[in-house]
Amino acid sequence: MNKSRNQINIAVIGLGRMGKIHLRNLLQAIPQANVVLVADPVYPEDDFKKEYPGIRFIKNTEEAIALPEVDAVVITTPTSTHAALVDQCISNSKHVFCEKPLDLSLEITKTLLEKAKESGISLMIGFNRRFDPDFMQARKSISEGKIGNPQIVKITNRDPALPNIEFVKTSGGMFMDFTIHDFDMARYLMGKEVVEVYAKGLVFFDEAIAEVGDIDTALTTLTFEDGTYAVLDNSRKAVFGYDQRLEVFGDKGMIQVDNNLYNRNILYNEHGIHQALPLNTFTERYIHSYGKEMESFIDALLNNKPVPVKNEDIIMATLLAYAAKKSLDEVRPVKISEIL
Ligand SMILES: NC(=O)c1ccc[n+]([C@@H]2O[C@H](COP(=O)([O-])OP(=O)(O)OC[C@H]3O[C@@H](n4cnc5c(N)ncnc54)[C@H](O)[C@@H]3O)[C@@H](O)[C@H]2O)c1
Repeated sequence: MNKSRNQINIAVIGLGRMGKIHLRNLLQAIPQANVVLVADPVYPEDDFKKEYPGIRFIKNTEEAIALPEVDAVVITTPTSTHAALVDQCISNSKHVFCEKPLDLSLEITKTLLEKAKESGISLMIGFNRRFDPDFMQARKSISEGKIGNPQIVKITNRDPALPNIEFVKTSGGMFMDFTIHDFDMARYLMGKEVVEVYAKGLVFFDEAIAEVGDIDTALTTLTFEDGTYAVLDNSRKAVFGYDQRLEVFGDKGMIQVDNNLYNRNILYNEHGIHQALPLNTFTERYIHSYGKEMESFIDALLNNKPVPVKNEDIIMATLLAYAAKKSLDEVRPVKISEIL
């Protein structure tokens, strides 16, 4: 990257839920980013022109990646397309931010990370929760020794409503698509490596999910290298909203992060004590984290710094998702040493 530059030219590929969030942040909140185009083979061009006047739109993603004016590519397409797009970016020497997961295969994930490293491009995966202000503060407190040695981390991650079955089919399954955030968060908070995974899961809500080989409810325990634990509690449907809580317990104290609510009023009356519901969607709950992660990506490129999500973080989260599925299928704890 030319050190005298003060902006990075970006192509955003895929304009769905995540694409729109990242595009908005790049356009409105990160002056060091210059969005030169958006590419999406499916998005209606006429709609795009009305919604984003003045921004170039291309249907062909290969053409978009190869354009010489593009420095970096933000990939927000369905998971099944990530590997091929990232590979094209590496071949064209473009830096990449790609939504999670990089790929469902651990081998492909490792190969692409190695290829990116050899070609000197920066590749960052969207583990956005690392940039959430509450979780960042929890990690800071833990690393400053405020709760002593962290012994148990409990993460509750429950979606408000079942995903569309078409999405489930290509998502990679609950562990790779959903719990992957918790695998990453458990390692991020504890600052230790996981040695064993034991997962249980089933379908409570919708048989269609079972028919496509997935689950909607899971409980996973992780054992860290020093014998400490993580407990990950996942559901695809919580009737009261997007349930995002965590707790870290240590020998000198405890940290809790509760749900973010629509407001902080607490109403007391003869029927009870009443509060607002939790924010209902990931776009609301993690809005700040998406902005911060993209800001960090652009900052790393402009200032020749390593991107803040490391290759080992990407490999370990993918590996833990793979191990959890193996554990579920084989109804036994799985040691990481069996897979590495
Ligand atoms: N970090 C997070 O919190 C988070 C949340 C949701 C989704 N995701 C990840 O983001 C990715 C996208 O998910 P989404 O929910 O935004 O999906 P989406 O279906 O809403 O959007 C995908 C977009 O990509 C386009 N597209 C489809 N095939 C394409 C191709 N071959 N090339 C270019 N564009 C293509 C579609 O037209 C659509 O506009 C997934 O990998 C998912 O795992 C991350």
